[in-house]
Amino acid sequence: MSTLIEQARSREWFYNYDLPDGSTTPTYHGADIKAIHDTRWRMVDSCLSENLGADRDRLTALDLASHQGWFAVKMAQSGFSSVLGIDARQSHVDDASLISQIYGFDQLSFQLGDIHQQSAKQLGQFDVVLMLGLLYHLENPVGALRTCRELCRRICIIETQIVPGMSGYVDYGSYQYVRPLKGSFGIIDETGETHGPEASITGVCLVPSLDALVWLLEKVGFSRVEVLEPPEDAYEQLLYHKRVMVAAQV
Ligand SMILES: C[S@@+](CC[C@H](N)C(=O)[O-])C[C@H]1O[C@@H](n2cnc3c(N)ncnc32)[C@H](O)[C@@H]1O
Repeated sequence: MSTLIEQARSREWFYNYDLPDGSTTPTYHGADIKAIHDTRWRMVDSCLSENLGADRDRLTALDLASHQGWFAVKMAQSGFSSVLGIDARQSHVDDASLISQIYGFDQLSFQLGDIHQQSAKQLGQFDVVLMLGLLYHLENPVGALRTCRELCRRICIIETQIVPGMSGYVDYGSYQYVRPLKGSFGIIDETGETHGPEASITGVCLVPSLDALVWLLEKVGFSRVEVLEPPEDAYEQLLYHKRVMVAAQV
């Protein structure tokens, strides 16, 4: 065990993990980053308690874009019977697996994968699907939302950066055929940053407006979509609606 902990402490992490010997993993973002993870976990946890009750020991969960496993670990610690994390970067899968070994979680596993390549045929369905911090790094966000729906048995929680919305009407082919906008996407260029551990893997990023996100979640087949209220002491991006967390029920 001590060699595993030494291995974990020998490098810098995205997350501040508490290790069994009382130490914590050093992070490359400093202390500020902790607030965003803590706020998001509190929001996820309270949404799950409200919608699924406190008893999680018969429920399964999938964490899409699990990075170094922090939310998957929280899900396992909170009682889920099995949790799978998937991320497109092998180094994250290796780090998450190391943490899982250190904590001794048999119900937790991680595998390499691009969200655009996942299907229920390969993975089955999960009671809970988390997709946090991923949607706005993708060039096919609509496909990703369809994948979330396909993989989800009960509730899907999505957390994402959003862009200001555009509303209005478009002469769609002619002035006689006018259609209302249902939302909009902003394009962000990450093509120079695809080496970054938190970045997109292709660099072409389509970021939805809140209207677009809610409308799309209904169109891909979720029956009820709720925008979750951040707590009063939330991380600023969530507090001021630059990022949102949305719960979509099957
Ligand atoms: C901003 S981080 C978010 C990590 C974590 N979900 C969280 O919210 O703390 C984005 C993560 O998405 C992963 N990622 C990027 N593109 C992906 C893709 N196409 N499929 C799966 N994971 C991807 C990255 O490797 C990175 O771990």
